[in-house]
Parts: sequence; C-alpha cells; structure tokens
Amino acid sequence: MALLKTAKKNELAAMAKLLMPFIAQAELGQLRIWGDSSRLHLERATISVNDLLVNTRSGHVTVEADCFFGHRCMLLTGTHDYTKTGRERLLAVPDSGRDIHLKQGVWLGSDVTVLGPAVIGENAVIAAGSLVTGDVPANTIVAGRPAKPVKKIDGTAL
Ligand SMILES: CC(C)(COP(=O)(O)OP(=O)(O)OC[C@H]1O[C@@H](n2cnc3c(N)ncnc32)[C@H](O)[C@@H]1OP(=O)(O)O)[C@@H](O)C(=O)NCCC(=O)NCCS
Repeated sequence: MALLKTAKKNELAAMAKLLMPFIAQAELGQLRIWGDSSRLHLERATISVNDLLVNTRSGHVTVEADCFFGHRCMLLTGTHDYTKTGRERLLAVPDSGRDIHLKQGVWLGSDVTVLGPAVIGENAVIAAGSLVTGDVPANTIVAGRPAKPVKKIDGTAL
C-alpha cells in the first residue's frame, strides 16, 4: 500500500500492465450485484455465474440449483417510471414487482439479458445474445431479441 502511494505515474503504469492479465482473468469470474445483495438468492449448487451482473433494485432474483451462465449475462429487475420525465424519472424506481426466477437447470448462453418480471422454466436454454422479456416455458430453447421459442431441448419442433 505504501509503495502505491509513493510510486511515480510511470511506475504505476508498469505495475498495472503486469497485473492486467490477472485482473482480466479475475473479472471473467466476478459476480456483480447492483442493489441490495440480500435480494439475490443463489442456490449453493448453482454451477457457474461467470461475470454475471444482477440488478436487484426493483425485485428479488432467485437462481435455483444446476443453473449456469455464459459470459456477460445480465439479470435486471431495475426499471424507471417512463411516464415521469427529467429528474423525477431518474428517481422513480419501484422497489418491487419485477422479480426474476431461474428454475433448476437453466442455461443462459453468453451475452443474454433477462428483464424482470420473468420466470424461466426448468432446464430451459436461452441462446447466446438473447433478450428475455417475459416467462420462458420449461425444457424449451428460446433465441433472439426479444427471445422466442425455437425448439424443445429434445430437438422436437414446437
Ligand atoms: C441455443 C443453442 C445451444 C442452440 O444450438 P443448436 O441446437 O445448434 O441451434 P440450431 O442451429 O438448431 O438453431 C435453431 C434455430 O434457432 C436459431 N438460433 C440459434 N441460436 C441463436 C441465437 N443465439 N440467436 C438467434 N437465433 C438463434 C437458429 O438460427 C435456428 O433458426 P431456424 O430454425 O430459423 O434456422 C446455441 O445456439 C447457443 O446459443 N449456444 C450458446 C453458446 C454460448 O453462449 N457459449 C458460451 C459458453 S456457455
């Protein structure tokens, strides 16, 4: 710590360069929570959250066992009242009503965003890059922005 306070700018830059690969690697596994962390209910057997961002500002987020996530996913409960304008809109954030619940065995591919309220059924798969704006049936693959069902997980058509 003392070293950091006395180091010159170029020495700090050299140190940052040396540490960057370690920071980048740690970042890939860093769960981030915006809002009250006690509103995130992550079951112990959840396999991997990677660099998941969870926003609990307007609801609870529950992730059941055996769920896993690709990179850069977001579970967002937070919203603003768009009927308001200006600073009033910025401050008009509901405390509840937009819960997100991932049932057992859900797989979110990389770069998936879920907007609450949403319940994602058991063993559902959310394809990479998708935007989920509502409930997803169990054992179903959904894809796209907004995400729509494309097939069942056993390959059968809908
Ligand atoms: C969901 C997934 C597993 C489906 O794989 P698949 O069975 O090979 O899918 P298919 O190629 O049969 O796709 C079925 C349909 O969904 C569409 N689709 C598949 N993935 C899609 C995506 N990410 N976005 C939009 N549409 C998609 C296909 O175009 C196809 O549409 P069509 O029937 O009109 O041609 C795969 O697309 C995926 O997203 N994997 C996640 C990869 C990832 O994020 N890895 C990181 C580590 S977890």
